[in-house]
Amino acid sequence: MRVLKAVTCAALALVLVHATPAQRADPLSPTGRWTAYSAGRGATPPMGWNSWNAFASAVDEAKVMGSAQRIIDSGLAGKGYRYINLDDGWAARRRMPDGRLLIRIDKFPSARTSDPDTPSFKPFTDRLHAMGLKAGIYSDMGRNTCAQAWSATDEDLPKGSIAEREVGLYDHIEQDIELYFRDWGFDYIKVDGCGLRDFGATSAKVQAGQARALPPIMDLGAITRTNVAAVQALFRRVGAAIERSNPDGDFIYSLCIWGAANVRAWAKDVGNVSRTSDDISPAWGRLLVNFDSAVHRALYAHPGSWNDPDMLYIGAGDFDAAHLVEARSHFALWAMLNAPLLIGADLRQTPDALMDILGNADLIALDQDPAGNQATVAYDSSDLQILVKSLADGDKAVAIFNRGSGAYEVTLQAAQLKFRPDAPVALTDLWSKKSSSFTNQVTLRAAPRETLIFRARGVRMLPDGVYLSEQPGKVNPAVDGVNRPIADPTIFRTAAGWNGTRGAGDRPQYAGWGGARADSAPYGQTLQIGRRTYQAGIGILVNSRLEVRNEGYGRFTAQVGVDDSATDKSSAVTFIVYGDGRRLAQSRPQKWGDGAHALEVDVTGVKLIELVARSRAASHEFLPVTWGDAALTGRQDPARMASGP
Ligand code: GLA
Repeated sequence: MRVLKAVTCAALALVLVHATPAQRADPLSPTGRWTAYSAGRGATPPMGWNSWNAFASAVDEAKVMGSAQRIIDSGLAGKGYRYINLDDGWAARRRMPDGRLLIRIDKFPSARTSDPDTPSFKPFTDRLHAMGLKAGIYSDMGRNTCAQAWSATDEDLPKGSIAEREVGLYDHIEQDIELYFRDWGFDYIKVDGCGLRDFGATSAKVQAGQARALPPIMDLGAITRTNVAAVQALFRRVGAAIERSNPDGDFIYSLCIWGAANVRAWAKDVGNVSRTSDDISPAWGRLLVNFDSAVHRALYAHPGSWNDPDMLYIGAGDFDAAHLVEARSHFALWAMLNAPLLIGADLRQTPDALMDILGNADLIALDQDPAGNQATVAYDSSDLQILVKSLADGDKAVAIFNRGSGAYEVTLQAAQLKFRPDAPVALTDLWSKKSSSFTNQVTLRAAPRETLIFRARGVRMLPDGVYLSEQPGKVNPAVDGVNRPIADPTIFRTAAGWNGTRGAGDRPQYAGWGGARADSAPYGQTLQIGRRTYQAGIGILVNSRLEVRNEGYGRFTAQVGVDDSATDKSSAVTFIVYGDGRRLAQSRPQKWGDGAHALEVDVTGVKLIELVARSRAASHEFLPVTWGDAALTGRQDPARMASGP
């Protein structure tokens, strides 16, 4: 009994240390504010170039500046590509005893100063800034970087004593961040995670006496061997240091822990972009993994915080100039996902056919659309998917993605776009620029690995409003009800991984299974309450809280209930709607099999709506709930809004 009590106290203490004040009281109680990350310059996904895919650690100034110059000369800079990011490989060592980081001046000659022991990247960032570009740097959350863990040779790695080779942020967070942003003038940082994972006492580098052991707190293969709270606390600390070093807010904070530590659920609260999967490689199967790790996570991406399925690999392997179908698919899909568009090619040598893909302004406009809605999945299968994205001007983008090796006849329906079936839909093909139109449905042909992509204009099904699932960029699953994160088994598992076909194969590893979904129940079933299906809505687990920005609508409506996919058939769930922190409406308790309860709520003048689904029962069964047809309607006249009711 006493032991149990001690354990409970310890567990409680842990919760208290890592919880915000609001969470301490009750994570489901309304906060009245949007809590997803909005610091920095991430209103649209970052665009630019990164050295890693082209050069790995063999990066140098001539290679970087050559690509930067081509970005300017080709006109890509004018289309939005502006961040020029150094990845791993720039660090020489940590100076002793004060710990200042030193640069490889043999590789970056402009970093040389009159004091040989104090090189500086300021001339380098000044030059990029003078070109109208921005500059990015790379570090690791641990003591050592990924190349230090994985590089086959020592050639491009930091040299010196073990302490001098510790170029990661661990134990140096404030010092390094200040150096990068205040002293050197960088505008972007990518923070990797190998140092938290790969330097256990038994690792080869530690055993060889090249690195100090750091007990791993993260394991990509097993969320159960990961200390999520500790990982998150470190990344929050870096974020706070970045904000302090950038009083003007001109920064991008990029998390790179490859979907480990359940980061796909919480990065939206901590940084501007966050990797959802392991590294991309120029192989089709690898693209599928990375795409899948983000495609069902539209509700976890918003202006200010984006899913990152990794950098573009256009220019190599399956995405080189001999594979234009695949290269176009890669670009179109990344644009639909609102992914960062970071070119990973040596642009000094990139053929024009690929430059044209990277410069397709219509696709860039989808990625950079100010509404910030990641595409949602309107049709899902292993071979073929239809993605739909709502744009700021009321148009939709639609992508038909043929993942497989056979050609498909595809029927695209107006209803999949949430357009009326009885009115014409105008399509513009964003590759050929050809226009066409259809009513109700149209049959198209998708070649193997092809992505057809269009801008579409039609008559909206909801004439004076939006379904919440049409605007995922304005819906934040602040608490998504996933209490025991487990790996998502639906993400493609490739034979093109790091181990090839050695070992036991590619196993499910990305936690987040059961997270909030647009137009789908949390585990992928269609939304259904009491045997009635809903084409539109939000599916989420019980004991969850959604934040919804309301930009001038007067009425919130939804059909709510326990989803038919629940295995918990006895617990009662109450649905509560808050407006700017005040309770506006509440459903009667709903159980599995009950017909939906209709909620209709006046939200005039309300800025933030919160949707809570609560059950007191501590069940170990699945209890998904559905906000069916959840919609905001009755848009107020903007002039009246400004002058008050
Ligand atoms: C990790 C990251 C890559 C790259 C390398 C550098 O693998 O995921 O994107 O930054 O480290 O070593």
